[in-house]
Amino acid sequence: MSIEASSISETLTLMRERLSRVVPDAELQIKAELVYEINRLKKERGAIILGHNYMEPALFHTVPDLAGDSLGLSREAAKTEKDPIIFCGVRFMAETAKILNPKKTVLLPAKVAGCSLAASITAEDVRALKAKYPGVPVVVYVNTYADVKAEADYCCTSSNAAKVLEHLGAPKVLFLPDEYLAKNTAIESGRPYMVVGKTSDGNLVESEVFPGQEGKGLVIAWHGKCEVHEQFTVEDIENARKQFPEIEVITHPESSPDVVEASDYSGSTTRLVQYVKDSPKKQFLILTECSMGDNIIAEAPDKEIARLCSVRCPHMNEITLEDVLHALTHNETRIELDEDLRQRALLSVERMLQIG
Ligand code: 13P
Ligand code: SF4
Repeated sequence: MSIEASSISETLTLMRERLSRVVPDAELQIKAELVYEINRLKKERGAIILGHNYMEPALFHTVPDLAGDSLGLSREAAKTEKDPIIFCGVRFMAETAKILNPKKTVLLPAKVAGCSLAASITAEDVRALKAKYPGVPVVVYVNTYADVKAEADYCCTSSNAAKVLEHLGAPKVLFLPDEYLAKNTAIESGRPYMVVGKTSDGNLVESEVFPGQEGKGLVIAWHGKCEVHEQFTVEDIENARKQFPEIEVITHPESSPDVVEASDYSGSTTRLVQYVKDSPKKQFLILTECSMGDNIIAEAPDKEIARLCSVRCPHMNEITLEDVLHALTHNETRIELDEDLRQRALLSVERMLQIG
């Protein structure tokens, strides 16, 4: 967590204690000044820094006051009294903070910081789906922009998707936009599912229905994918198991159902971190953004973490310590939302937070 130090040299000493297993000393020396200045300015301004689990280790372990997954950070953003909120994550996360805490200034330390899932669906797509399936409740993954959340009945994250479906208990649910999260959640709860896609001429096309248990409601998925998690394969898992026969494979549920099925455990980023920390096992393959493996090694030196670092999230990796300092110094990039749209989006996010 955030480093409390009264000088650059003390900052460097503390950074070495936390990070020397994963970050070369030359880099720590360069970054110590930035870390010191960010934490000094944060205190002076009464700001809070929230950091997603995917931030690179020299940022993750030095400047966030609170770190976690999308659900945990949404909860923190809703209740903080501090101002401004600097959100070290991608745009949809910073937007969720603004939806929940509109009076505070929310700053995203990068201009774009997109997400292939959030980009896979528009508010107009949701309206077209609602017209095709009238009366069917709409659940949207938190990885969507505010205008899409404004069209939804409920929001969900990777840690409460099954709970939200259970709560709804409806005969049909539109579950958007992550095809794989929808399928994994449907499979986990024994529900039938199908996928709806949009053709290049704008028509909506349904897949066949994959059967589930008798009496369970149908999950209607959209064809969005995470550009990182869709790249992991069962072959990656088989190769790792051949090389390290004792390895445990843990996977984020944005990966394909085949990959999730071939893994030992699947869960939100915070659940994956907790699983490794709690497990008596030593070797893990983590199928999610590579930086998270570095962040775990820094804290749990007895664990060996294999990760596929050729597959990275370019959006999460956009955020650097330099950007965080720039955000604090220049109040950029501010998240602004239309008030009517924010209030409509808030309904779906609040309903999710009430479910837990
Ligand atoms: P979590 O909510 O599990 O942190 O996931 C967010 C994300 O974007 C994963 O790719
Ligand atoms: Fe979006 Fe995938 Fe990056 Fe997560 S890892 S922010 S879902 S592109």
